[in-house]
Amino acid sequence: MSQQEQQPIIRFDRISKKYDDGTKVLNDVSFSIERGKFYTLLGPSGCGKTTILRLIAGFTEPSQGNVVFQGKVINGVPAHERKVNTVFQDYALFPHLNVFENVAFGLRVKKWKKSDIDAKVKEALRFVNLSGYENREISDMSGGQRQRVAIARAIVNEPEVLLLDEPLSALDLKLRTEMQYELRELQRRLGITFIFVTHDQEEALALSDEIFVLNQGVIQQSGTPVDIYDEPINRFVADFIGESNIVPGTMIEDGLVRFAGKTFECVDHGFLPNESVEIVIRPEDLEITTSELGNLQVKVDSQLFRGVHYEISCNDNAGNEWLVHSTRKATVGDNIGLRFDPEAIHVMRFNETEEDFDRRLEAYGGAEAGAAQ
Ligand SMILES: Nc1ncnc2c1ncn2[C@@H]1O[C@H](COP(=O)(O)OP(=O)(O)O)[C@@H](O)[C@H]1O
Ligand SMILES: [Mg+2]
Repeated sequence: MSQQEQQPIIRFDRISKKYDDGTKVLNDVSFSIERGKFYTLLGPSGCGKTTILRLIAGFTEPSQGNVVFQGKVINGVPAHERKVNTVFQDYALFPHLNVFENVAFGLRVKKWKKSDIDAKVKEALRFVNLSGYENREISDMSGGQRQRVAIARAIVNEPEVLLLDEPLSALDLKLRTEMQYELRELQRRLGITFIFVTHDQEEALALSDEIFVLNQGVIQQSGTPVDIYDEPINRFVADFIGESNIVPGTMIEDGLVRFAGKTFECVDHGFLPNESVEIVIRPEDLEITTSELGNLQVKVDSQLFRGVHYEISCNDNAGNEWLVHSTRKATVGDNIGLRFDPEAIHVMRFNETEEDFDRRLEAYGGAEAGAAQ
C-alpha cells in the first residue's frame, strides 16, 4: 500500500463548531476514519451528526480545528472539489427528471461524453439493482427504490467517501431491514468508506465496522459494535445502546464489587479501593432460577411476552429494578433468583469520558488490562 493509502482517509483534528446564531454544536471533536470501512455516527436527534457530515462534505466550515483528508487540511476547499458524496435524509432527487437523468446529473454538469455517461449510469444502476428502471419517473418509484436512485446518484461520481444521513429513516421496518443488508453489501462491493448516520442503535450495531456514539457534540465512545455493546464506558452509552440494568455499587477491590446489598466476583479492575461505581448487566445475561440458586433474590413485578423472549421486570430488596430477557416464563408476584456470571457484570466509573477511560487502562497496565476489561 502507498503511504497515502495507509493514513486515515479523514481526520477531525480538535474540531469545534458554533453556528452563526451562537448554537454550539461540536466541542473539541477528534477522530480518524480509515479507508474502506463502514462507520456509523450514532446519537440522539440534535447531537451534531448532520453537522459532522456537513463539515466533511464542505457544506459548512469548522469554527476551530481542522478537517484533514488524506493528510491534507481541507478547510475552505469547496464541496464540489472534495472526493465525497452525500445521500441526504430526504434523498433530494429531482422530481421532474427520470431515474437515468437523476443519476446522470452530476456527470452532465461535469460535461462528460454522452457514451461515457451512458455506461457509468448503467453501471451505477446495476450496483443498486435498478437495471431496467432508467426511464421511470421518480414519482413512480417506491420509497426503497428512490433510496437506491439517491445512492446511485452519489456513487456515479466515484467518491472515496460516501456520507449517508439517516437514509433509511423514512422506510417501513421490513424495507429498512432489507436496505440494511443491501447497504452493507454495497459497501463491501464498492470498497469505499461509508459514514452512515443514524439515531437507531440496532441499525448501527448491525451495519458498522466502527461506531462513534455521540451526545451533545462530544464523542462518548468509539469502537466496534461488540466493544460498545459489551463494554459501554458510561451511563449514556450503556443506556443508549441496547437495554441495560444500571445500578449503583462499590468497587471493593480489583475483581470484587458490591451492589444490591451483596458482594460479587467480577472481572473489572483499575478502580480506587471502595470507589462508588455504576454496574451494568444486560437483560439477556440474567437467568431466572429459584431463590436458593440465584446470586440475587428478587420479586417478579411484571412480565411481557415479546415473541422471542419474555421481558420480566423484578425488584430486589435494595430498591433496584432488574429487567430480564428470558425464554422461560416467570409468575408475577413470585420470589425468584437471578443467576449471572462474573463476566456479565460490567463496572463503570461515573461519567467517565473515553479519554479518561483509555488513560486509566493505560495507567493500570496498558494492553493487558485493555484486553481483560
Ligand atoms: N444552520 C444551523 N444554524 C443554527 N443551528 C443549527 C444549524 N444546523 C443545525 N443546528 C443546530 O445544531 C444542533 C445539531 O444539529 P445536527 O447536526 O443537525 O444534529 P443531528 O443531525 O444529530 O440531529 C441542533 O441543536 C440544531 O438545531
Ligand atoms: Mg441530522
